Parts: sequence; structure tokens; C-alpha cells
Amino acid sequence: MKNIIVTLGTALTLAGVLGLTVVYAGLFNVSALWEDPVLVRWILNETRENSVSSRAASIEVPALGDMEQVEEGFRSFREMCAICHTPPEASDSPTAQGLNPEVPDLAKRALHMSEAELFWVIKNGVRMTGMPAWGPTHKDPELWSIVAFVKTLPDMSGADYKIMDQSAALGHGHSGGGHGDDNGESGDGDNEKAAEHNDDGHGH
Ligand code: HEC
Repeated sequence: MKNIIVTLGTALTLAGVLGLTVVYAGLFNVSALWEDPVLVRWILNETRENSVSSRAASIEVPALGDMEQVEEGFRSFREMCAICHTPPEASDSPTAQGLNPEVPDLAKRALHMSEAELFWVIKNGVRMTGMPAWGPTHKDPELWSIVAFVKTLPDMSGADYKIMDQSAALGHGHSGGGHGDDNGESGDGDNEKAAEHNDDGHGH
């Protein structure tokens, strides 16, 4: 018994010394150009998926998908997400190309993730990946509108996206940048204009 304790103690001390050496001698390469070994990536992906699904299980999903809500979600996506999550049929931005882990294709993730899971990820982010948490700066209804938009991505062509993008660009012209925490109440006129432009009838 005593031997086991002594052996365990020595092993733990050695592991501690080794760990501190890695930390203090700068042995670990933090470069984003360094790819994780396959096993590490698998562990991180499984950990994320299980963490998200268990935390999302108790989230109540509101009614989603009316056109106005999807439009609002699109405008947020365009402003906040498109730089990393490439829109349909577009090419990756330099930011997207430089991220590690790679940015997932949201159209594909939207097929596999529930609304509650998408909401949880958008609100909380994923630490140490570059995926930001939008909860500190956005109210839940705004985040749900992004979920509603993301759920339309699997059926959206590059042309559909471009039409929405152009009308948003027009509607944006005179709002003059740097708007803080306005919830769109003052910008109603613009929003309706953008919605009218998008008459490409989605039914299939
Ligand atoms: C700065 C880059 C960046 C921005 C901006 C960004 N993301 Fe991400 N996002 C990432 C990265 C990187 C991952 C991959 C995380 C991983 O592999 O664990 C990711 C993952 C995700 C996932 C998938 C999570 C999963 O469990 O598979 C969703 C959904 C997502 N982002 C939605 C969004 C939405 C919606 C926005 C805008 C509101 C957004 N992201 C903005 C970088 C970004």
C-alpha cells in the first residue's frame, strides 16, 4: 500500500513538472496553422456536440419562421456571421480561410442541429474556436430570428442570397453605420422595404 502511494506521488509530481515545463518553456505551438491530430479533433467535436445537446435540451423553442423574422435574422447574419460562415455559393473570406478549427458550412449544420441547439451555440459561442457568444450583446428574440434564418439556409441558392443581400445593402444606405443597441423599432420603414424586395416565392 505504502509503495503504491509513493509510486503514485512520484508519477503525479513528474507529470506536474512536465506540465509546468510545457507551459513555461513555450513548448506548445499555439499557431492557428498547426492542425490538430485526428484523434484530438474527434475528441473536441464529440465534446462540443454532447455539451451543446445536453445544455440545449431544456430550451423552449418559440414559433419560428415568419417572413419578417427570417428577414431580421438575415440582416444579423449578413452583419455578424457572413465574414466567417460563407453564404451560399460564395467563396470563403480571408477570415474564414484562416480559422482553426475550420468554420462549418451552416447550411449543413442547420440540417443536423435542432433549433434549440442552434440557439444555444449562437448565444453562448464555442470557446477556443473563434465562434463568438452573441448573448452578451443581443436579446433572445434577436437570436431566435438568426436561428429562423439559419434554418432556411439548406434551401437557399446563391441567387436567393444575393437578392436578399442587395436589398439589405440598399436599405442600409442611409442608416449611417455605428448603430448601438437599437432593436429595429426606429428603422421599420427600411425593414419593410427589404421584405418587399424579396418576392422570390420559396414554396417547393
Ligand atoms: C469569427 C468567426 C465566426 C463568426 C463571426 C461566427 N462564427 Fe460560428 N463558428 C465559427 C467557428 C470557427 C466554428 C467552429 C467551432 C468548432 O469547430 O467547434 C463555428 C461554429 C458555429 C456553429 C456550429 C456549432 C456546432 O455545434 O456544430 C454554428 C451553428 C454557428 N457557428 C453559427 C454562427 C452564427 C449564426 C453566427 C453569427 C451570429 C456566427 N456563427 C458567427 C466562427 C465564427
